[in-house]
Amino acid sequence: MNTDKLMDILPEKVRSRVEPYFEALEVMTAVKDPKVAASLGPASVRGLFLQRGKQGVPTKIPASHEAYFDWTYPSDQPEMLDLYRRAKAAQWDGEERLDWSTSVDPHDPEVPIIPENFINFEKLADYGIKLTPQEKTRFRTDITAWQLSQFLHGEQGALFAAAQVTEAVQFFDGKLYGATQVVDEARHVEVFHRYLDTKLNKLYQVNDNLFVIIDALMSDSRWDMKFLGMQIMVEGLALGAFGTLYKITKEPLLKELLRNVIHDESRHVHYGVCALREHFNHHITERERREREDWAFEVAILMRNRFLAYEVYEEWFEGTMLTRKQWRDVVNTSPGLEEFRHVMFSRLVPNLREIGLMSERIIPHYDRVGLMKYFGGKSADAISGEEMIAELDGRDAPVSAVA
Ligand SMILES: [Fe+2]
Ligand SMILES: [Fe+2]
Repeated sequence: MNTDKLMDILPEKVRSRVEPYFEALEVMTAVKDPKVAASLGPASVRGLFLQRGKQGVPTKIPASHEAYFDWTYPSDQPEMLDLYRRAKAAQWDGEERLDWSTSVDPHDPEVPIIPENFINFEKLADYGIKLTPQEKTRFRTDITAWQLSQFLHGEQGALFAAAQVTEAVQFFDGKLYGATQVVDEARHVEVFHRYLDTKLNKLYQVNDNLFVIIDALMSDSRWDMKFLGMQIMVEGLALGAFGTLYKITKEPLLKELLRNVIHDESRHVHYGVCALREHFNHHITERERREREDWAFEVAILMRNRFLAYEVYEEWFEGTMLTRKQWRDVVNTSPGLEEFRHVMFSRLVPNLREIGLMSERIIPHYDRVGLMKYFGGKSADAISGEEMIAELDGRDAPVSAVA
C-alpha cells in the first residue's frame, strides 16, 4: 500500500502524528549513493526523527575537523586576497546603517511586507479553509516571520561554518578572507534577529530540513563539504531568497536590511565558488568529485521538495481537515513561493556548474526534476552585489568589478 492511500484511511489525529515520520522515511530512502547516505543519514535521524533543532537550548553538534596551520604565510590565492580587500572596505554597522526607528506595522495594507497574492488562498479555500481578510493578513505576516526566522537560523549556521572553515581551509588568503565572513555573518544574525524581535515580535523554530543540512555540514570533518553545504547550497539558495524578498517587499527597513545583506552574501558565494573550483579541479579524485556531485543533488532536492513552511502549517492547520499533502499543494501553487523557488535555483545551479558538480552523469537527474533550465545562468563569481541589486531593481547593471 502506498503512503498516500494509508494516510487517507487513517483517523485524522493519528494521521497528523505519523505523517511527518513517513515523509522523513521517504527522504532517507530516496538517497541512493551509500557515501551520501552515510553523510546525510545520521543528520537526517537527528533532524527529522529526533527533531534536535526543536528540543530547546542548547543544541550541541560535535565538530571533527582539523585546524590547518601554515607558518610560511603564503600569498597563494590572488582572487581570495582581492575578496579580502573588498570585504574589509565594505564593512558596515547594523546599528548605524539601518534606521531602526522606522515604525513597522505588518498589518498595514499601504506598506505590505509581502504582496496580497503571495499565497494561494483560493487553493486553501478549495480544501475547505476559508480565512477572513484579517486572518489572511495575519497569515501572510506569519509566513514572512517564518521565512525571516529560517534566514536567521541559516545565518547562525553560516557564522559557525565560516569560523570552522577559516580554521580548516588550506588556502592562506582564504583564511584571511574567511575572518571577514565571520564578522559579516555575526552582523547578519544581529540584524535579522533585531528585525524579528522588535518589528515582527515572532520567531519560528528551525525547519527540520534546514537543520539536517546544518547538522551534516557542521559535523563533517571535511572542510570542502562544509563549504559545499554552506557557501554553495545554503548561502546560494538564501541569496536567491533574499533577492526575491528584497524585490517584493514595500517595507523600507526590511528592504534596506536585505540590500546590505545581499552585498555581503554575494561575496560569500563568490568565495565558495572560487575555493571549490580550485579544490575540486586540482585536489580531489574523480570518485570524491562524484560523491560531492551526488551530495549536492540530494541536498538541492531536499531544499526544493521539503522546505515548505511546515512550522506555519503546524501552527495554523494541524489537526484540521487540511493534510500535509494538501498543504504542500497550497505552497507549491502559491505565486510568491513559486517565485522564491525560481530565483533560488536560478542562483544555485550555475554555481554548481562552475565548481564542476554538473557533469554529463548528473545532468539527466537535474533535468528530471526541472532544474536544467537554470544551467546557463551567471555564476556568483561573474556577478557583483551591485549588479544583483540593479537587476532586482530593474535598472541597468552598473559597469563595475565583481563582488
Ligand atoms: Fe549571511
Ligand atoms: Fe553568508
